[in-house]
Amino acid sequence: MSVLEAKITELQEAAAKQGDVVRSLKAHAKDGKADKAEVEAAIAQLQEIKLDLDAKQKEFEKTTGKVSSQSKEAFRAALTNLLERRLFYIPSFKIYGSVAGFYDYGPPGCAIKQNLTQAWRQHFVLEENMLEVECPAVTPEVVLKASGHVDRFTDYMVTDLKTGDPYRADHLVEGHLEALLEDTKAPLPAAEKREVKDLLAGVGEMDGAALGALITRFGIKAPDTKNDLSPPFPFNLMFKTSIGPKGDMVGYLRPETAQGIFVNFRDLLYYNGSKLPFAAAQIGNSYRNEISPRAGLLRVREFTQAEIEHFVNPDDKSHPKFASVAKLEPLLYSRELQMGEEKRPKPVALGDAVARGTIANETLAYFIGRTWLLFGRLGVDLKRMRFRQHLQHEMAHYAEDCWDAEVETTYGWVECAGLADRSAYDLRAHTAMSKTELNAYEKFTEPREVEVTTVTPNKKELGLGFKRDAKAVADALEALGEEDAMCLKSDLDAGKPGKVVVDGKAVQVTAPMVEIKRQQKRLAGRNFIPSVIEPSFGIGRILYCVFEHSYYTREGDEARAVLRFTPLVAPVKATVFPLVQKEQLNALATKISASLTAAGLSNLIDTTGNTIGKRYARTDEIGVPFAVTVDFQALENASVTLRERDSTAQIRVPIADVATLIRRLVDSATTWEDAAAEYPAVAKAAAEEQQ
Ligand code: ATP
Ligand code: GLY
Repeated sequence: MSVLEAKITELQEAAAKQGDVVRSLKAHAKDGKADKAEVEAAIAQLQEIKLDLDAKQKEFEKTTGKVSSQSKEAFRAALTNLLERRLFYIPSFKIYGSVAGFYDYGPPGCAIKQNLTQAWRQHFVLEENMLEVECPAVTPEVVLKASGHVDRFTDYMVTDLKTGDPYRADHLVEGHLEALLEDTKAPLPAAEKREVKDLLAGVGEMDGAALGALITRFGIKAPDTKNDLSPPFPFNLMFKTSIGPKGDMVGYLRPETAQGIFVNFRDLLYYNGSKLPFAAAQIGNSYRNEISPRAGLLRVREFTQAEIEHFVNPDDKSHPKFASVAKLEPLLYSRELQMGEEKRPKPVALGDAVARGTIANETLAYFIGRTWLLFGRLGVDLKRMRFRQHLQHEMAHYAEDCWDAEVETTYGWVECAGLADRSAYDLRAHTAMSKTELNAYEKFTEPREVEVTTVTPNKKELGLGFKRDAKAVADALEALGEEDAMCLKSDLDAGKPGKVVVDGKAVQVTAPMVEIKRQQKRLAGRNFIPSVIEPSFGIGRILYCVFEHSYYTREGDEARAVLRFTPLVAPVKATVFPLVQKEQLNALATKISASLTAAGLSNLIDTTGNTIGKRYARTDEIGVPFAVTVDFQALENASVTLRERDSTAQIRVPIADVATLIRRLVDSATTWEDAAAEYPAVAKAAAEEQQ
């Protein structure tokens, strides 16, 4: 820790202590045990400490270009305090001590999550004509066996050798390497720094042995106790359950919503008139028994996913609407940039990225562009958002290209969505397991002469060789793919017996049992397994990033926190305040509130006798973008004031226009600037009077 950072910590502690002193003096002043002057002196001292702290934090940010870890933590503590206090979310089962990785959403949390999900649905499902489905979370084992989750959906875990406490191995290694890089007291020599940076870039793709080697090499211990750690071992993240009262059918809570779409592919294709490309989408909860969930809403054990499976012809991954995003320039952090010296993302036009082959195809790039547009609309600061390409070995072997949409927060860069070209992997896997063809048919514009492989089982010979299993062997031979059939043919032609897999077991067949031929055929079309491009979003993660990017305090008044939600996602769109408690004003406020509700605008009416300033402060905290104040002029000329949260500017609007105007502002059909040009401003003095 640098001298400056140490000073910041010291000042933070001093500010906390002095805050306690002020609170206690204020309480005593009420009981007459402390005088006003004493309280004022304590407040002045607190302000001095805060000014000093602020200056030191700014100096740190200026000299290092970074936000100090202390101010990150202080920011996060202030934000989470607000979010929990105002019931955006609550640790679940709190009165029983809570369980890590589970959160309840309270009233503003439910509303904003709903708005965000609805915006996602509008942006993708409706605007792209996707086929929406809703499938159960409880999934029979066979489905997740086929998809590979039963065998491979694991993270590497280590345990504290004394207490048995579990940790995720890659996270511990990452944390340790990051700390080495950030250590300003004992900075690493340049060569070592470079090596540690490269190791850090590759942690996500390491297996247990590689992670274990780093734990040993760097002497990494259990963070809470500093005890030794076990070697890493794989831990399956799925919650297991049993289906039905007999308990003999194994099931799992789905770890992703995607499989529900794949298993319905045949019906969805038919629904779509057997035409490709098409996309199906699903919004629903997924479950992962995360090893040590510690990052609030970012890593939970039950979360809402919104996933798209866009099915395409593998030979044509162009997108008809690509031109609409080709000029967008999101920050791209390509493989090349990650492995390069600078390790910094760059803004690149999506059209160029596809032309240069940085992004594998138009459809993937189209979804990157659409994701970027959506995040901007939701209130993510696009300067702090990047698309990071998976390193070659980080991708599953079947994947052709993958990019994560990452957002910078006080926790570092957070993956909010994964966009992957998964080729035909999933449909192929379910075809093999379910014995159901998950194909699409492509009619050629002109019939084509092609060379095809035909496999004709000789039933008589198979009957002699395999008796009652002959039919299963014949079926397996007929189902052979082109490549496997040619392998078998080359063995048989060489006079060797060949192998074919029947119900998971390899059996030997001989040349007389099957005829395999290459033939010229005139074909009008072909069957093929489509490729799939999958954008997969975590709603809770996006929401948390929106919280971080929206939070600020009013200039000169740290105690007044604001969430600058866009009107689109804000949980409450407007508040209605009678200026003072007076029956006529209350009655009018109630009428205005009803007109907002009728226009589909969630609103709150506050008739408490609190000062208007206090009432504004409370609504700023839950990010209400507009406030309607019913003052005495309302009774004279049927007009009210409308205040915009961030500028605190106010205009005077006829009551008859209020609901329509706010509706238009929320729908982005107009802007505050346009509204301010259309209606008279409330003079600053009058506006201030109402604060
Ligand atoms: P991570 O590496 O952070 O565990 P992942 O790569 O396993 O994430 P994916 O499997 O790609 O994540 O899941 C798709 C999306 O689902 C992620 O981009 C994220 O938004 C969300 N998600 C995944 N795991 C969680 C979780 N435990 N809590 C909240 N959201 C999650
Ligand atoms: N369907 C992508 C994921 O959840 O991993």
